Order: sequence, then structure tokens, then C-alpha cells
Amino acid sequence: KLLGRSVKPLLFAETVESVSNKAPEAEINRRRNLAIISHPDAGKTTVTEKLLLYGGALQQAGAVRQKAEQRGTQSDFMSIEQERGISISSTVMNFDYNGKRDFSEDTYRALAAADNSVMLIDSAKGLEPQTRKLFEVTRMRKLPLFTFCNKMDRPALSPYEIMDQIEAEFNLESFPVLWPIGDGDRFKGVLDRMENVVHLFIKSVERGGKADVQQVPMDDLETLEKLIDDKELFDKLLEDRELLDELIPPLDMDRVSAGDLTPLFFGSAMTNFGVQLFLDKFLEMGVKPATRVAVNKDASSDDVLTVSPEHEEFTGFVFKTQANMDPKHRDRLAYVRVVSGVYEKGMKVGHSRSKPNKKYNLAQAQALFGSDRSSVDVAYPGDVIGINNPGCFAIGDTLYTGSNRVAFPGIPSFSPEKFSYIRSPNPSDYKSFRKGMDQLLDEGAVQALRQRNDDGGGPLMLAAVGQLQFEVVQARLKEEYNVESIMEPLTYSLARWVNSGWDAVDKADAAGKLFGIMIVQDRWKRPVLLFRNDWKAASLADEEKYLELAPWSQ
Ligand code: G4P
Repeated sequence: KLLGRSVKPLLFAETVESVSNKAPEAEINRRRNLAIISHPDAGKTTVTEKLLLYGGALQQAGAVRQKAEQRGTQSDFMSIEQERGISISSTVMNFDYNGKRDFSEDTYRALAAADNSVMLIDSAKGLEPQTRKLFEVTRMRKLPLFTFCNKMDRPALSPYEIMDQIEAEFNLESFPVLWPIGDGDRFKGVLDRMENVVHLFIKSVERGGKADVQQVPMDDLETLEKLIDDKELFDKLLEDRELLDELIPPLDMDRVSAGDLTPLFFGSAMTNFGVQLFLDKFLEMGVKPATRVAVNKDASSDDVLTVSPEHEEFTGFVFKTQANMDPKHRDRLAYVRVVSGVYEKGMKVGHSRSKPNKKYNLAQAQALFGSDRSSVDVAYPGDVIGINNPGCFAIGDTLYTGSNRVAFPGIPSFSPEKFSYIRSPNPSDYKSFRKGMDQLLDEGAVQALRQRNDDGGGPLMLAAVGQLQFEVVQARLKEEYNVESIMEPLTYSLARWVNSGWDAVDKADAAGKLFGIMIVQDRWKRPVLLFRNDWKAASLADEEKYLELAPWSQ
């Protein structure tokens, strides 16, 4: 959408009464924001827990349930943060509900809010289906991608095999920063190829404590051989080092920042091996809060603005909303990623979808640690804060101070693959059912589709990326609104928008081309076709070009 438009830096008019909201450079420079992506069970929760242990402050937005032991470590984050002088803001969006894990739209949205991404791989399994899906998003956003191969304390694939998979499937070269020495019971440590130092893990530590590590320069072969105490692994290390130095070109940080080269790490989050090293390298190599593009809604032209974190004014965007996080208070929260300026408690902001002179008071922001919260008085670019949502803040909205009406582009959402009718079996519950559904649809938990010309009275169809999203909707309707619901799944697996409109749909329908395809409308009454498989959609797009079939967009 932004192509072909002029790009201009965003300048704010200097007026006498304008108060600078500029974030201090030091605050911007010490922030690193990351989103961890992985297939369920690769170890996101465990790695997050260990990053906390080693790193300090961490914001975990979106986890409905949180592992108990994680809480214990959070209390000392302030002191660790001060000690290290750096705060890590990690938006972990693994969806975890009643012990089940699946993919959700949230995961995608977390990537929209992050400046760096970490791909977590189970070293025994290599790339898995959801790693692939999520990788597409990081590539679309051109986010720097760091790869951490976890669970090296278990029998693992060869590191070369993992590198090959990443290259073959993602067309992405990797740069091994840490290289493993052995795996499973014989996982002895890692070679830090940047420093040419071997980190040998002396004792395995279960959850909680930090690992004991002994550092030996790679050139001190005698000590290394003695400490590794395994002739085969020692020889392999020498051989690997030579091979890697020969094969891998020097690290090109520009390519890392552009997401074209992934720094590769190996370790075991459970036993703490390699996590601290990973964190230290990530803090060096990860990009700081980035400049983002936006449009100026006041400008008569379609000027694209660049908003850098150093801007004079506060800007941020909503990437997630959630209701009823605290059942006692029935509150609604909007998660805002700060892009520029400083959030200060009680500040008044404009809102991209409201009238220009309407201002909202951001009375109280919260830092979110899973289900725990603490209030924050100031927040800087790169931070994620939870603000009270009076109901008007929706995903993709921009909040801003100053005279320019800034609007960041919408957050991409992904094409749903599951479709199902939902209804309430008890007519007397209808009002609560509608209220709950409206709220969940506002949150973007699922999307709604309806039959053509239905103004809201007909059957409601839900569309989601994964089956679990439906189960969550049903569970939340029950828990939060006390209504039962019935789902009737449909066998379609793909949605395509008809960009050329309803006339084109009628034309294709009259010609008998839409047999076996369901015609529905989205919430803006735009035509959508549902297909049973990719092949059917591709052949219709090919044969009836006037339909202008497009993937999911919002
Ligand atoms: P997720 O958030 O990505 O879904 O993964 P999570 O951290 O919950 O980890 C999934 C399982 O893998 C957990 O086991 C966890 O203990 C284990 N795990 C994580 N990192 C490592 C590692 O480095 N090595 C080994 N061997 N296991 C690891 P679980 O039995 O499902 O849960 P729990 O009983 O340990 O909590």
C-alpha cells in the first residue's frame, strides 16, 4: 500500500505552548524488543523464564495462563534490571488456554509490535509446521531473526542439518554464533565463534539456578581436551571449527538487521545452557526500537511519514485488546506498543479513528507480566503498555500527541482456515450471547462472516486461523457471559475476497462457476468466497480473472 508514495520525515510544528515529549536517547538505546516464535512445545515458556532469570524485566503480554515458577523470578527483576542497565521487553504471544496450545491471531500481532524476532527450534525436530507459518510473518515484516536451537540436552539433529533446513525451506542463510559440542547426555558446551572461546557447562542446573560455566580459549587445546574429556567430541570440535571458518563468510550485520541472515545459537533452556550467552549476543546484535512508517490523516495528499523513536511527540498503536482479564473487575485492556516519545501517566492523546479534537485521558497504564500487572508512570519507545480500553480502541488504532494526526498502517491478519457456525441453544440467552460475541469479535479473537444481505439477524459464522480459537470463544462465552453455545463446523478451508465486488460474484454465479463454493460477506459487506481447497481457488482465479480474488485483508 505504501509503495509509490512519497516518504517524508514527520515534522511537528513548533508552537509556543507545545511541550516536548521526546524520549531520552539513553532510554531508546537500552531497549530491545523481541517476539519469540515457535511451534508449541519447542520451549517458549522455558526460554522466556530463563531470559527473565538472566535478563531482568520482561513483559509477557497475552499468556492466559502462566507457569507458576515463572512468577517467582519476576520479583527480582527490578534489581537485575538496574544491575545490567538494560530492560528487555519481550512480547511472548504463545496462546495457552486451559493447558492447550495453538496458534492464534495474537501471535501474528505480536510480531507487528516487535522489532526483533527469535525463532525457537526443538533441535530434535528441526523446522515444524507452525515455525514455517510464523516465519512467513517475520519475513513479511523484514524483522531481524535470531535462531535458537533448544533442547540440546536431548539427542538432536546435526547442527549442519538444521542449517540446511533453514536454508532450503526459508531461503535464509544462517551464521552460527554459538556452535554445540555434542548433544544429549554428551552436550558439553558451545563454541562462541565471535570470541573464539569455548564455554563448557560444568554442572547441569534444573529450573531456577544459573548454570556454572567454565570458559576456555579455543586455542588452549590442551586444557580443552582435558575438560571436554571425550576424544571424539574434541576432534569433532576442531574439525567443525575449521569447516565453519572456511564455509561461513564473516558476519554481515546489515544482512542480519534486514532479516536476510539469521544468527544461530544452540543451547538448552531447561538446563540453562547457552541462554545467557544468547541473551548477551542478542543485546549486542538486536535492533533498538525502530522507525516506523505512518500516514498523516490531516494531509490532503497521501504522504507517508516516518516516525522515529526520537520524535518530539508520543505515538503508539494498539496491537491487542482483551476483556475480562481480571474477572473481579470486568475490565478491558488495549495493549499499546510505544513507537515514539514518552508515555506519561494521565496524558491526553488523540486517536486515529476519532474526531481530531477528541482527546482520551490515559490515566493508568500497566506493565503486564502474564497475569500479573504493575502500574507504570512512564513508558518509552519499544515498550508495551496495557491501557484501559473504554471500548473505542481497536486493533490497529494509533494514539498520538501533537497536532499531526498520525495513523500507523493496520496490523496484518491472516487468512482463516477454519469456519464454523455458532449459535446459542437457549433463546433466553440471546442477549448475553450477542453481547459476548460482540466483545470477542471486537477483540479480534475470531472473525465474523455472514450470509449475503444479512444485516445481523441471520446465522453467525466464525472464521479463525486455528481450531483452538473456536474453543476459546466457547469457553469465554461460558465463563465470562454464562452462555452456552453450539458450533457447527463447515468443511471449507480457504477464504478469498472478491475485489471486483458483488456484480462480479453474480456474473460468476450465473455462469455456474461457483458450484461447491460458499458465498458470504465480511463485516464490511464485502463479498468473500469460501473454498474447500487451494486447488479450487487457484483454478477459479485462473479461469475467471474478472473476480480479482485476493487473500485475506482487513
Ligand atoms: P512452549 O512454551 O514453546 O510450548 O514450550 P515450553 O517451554 O512449555 O516447553 C515444552 C516442554 O519442553 C516442557 O516440558 C519443557 O520442560 C520442555 N523443555 C523446554 N526446554 C527444554 C530443554 O532445553 N530441554 C529439554 N529436555 N526439555 C525442554 P513438559 O514436560 O511439557 O512440561 P513441564 O512439566 O516441564 O513444565
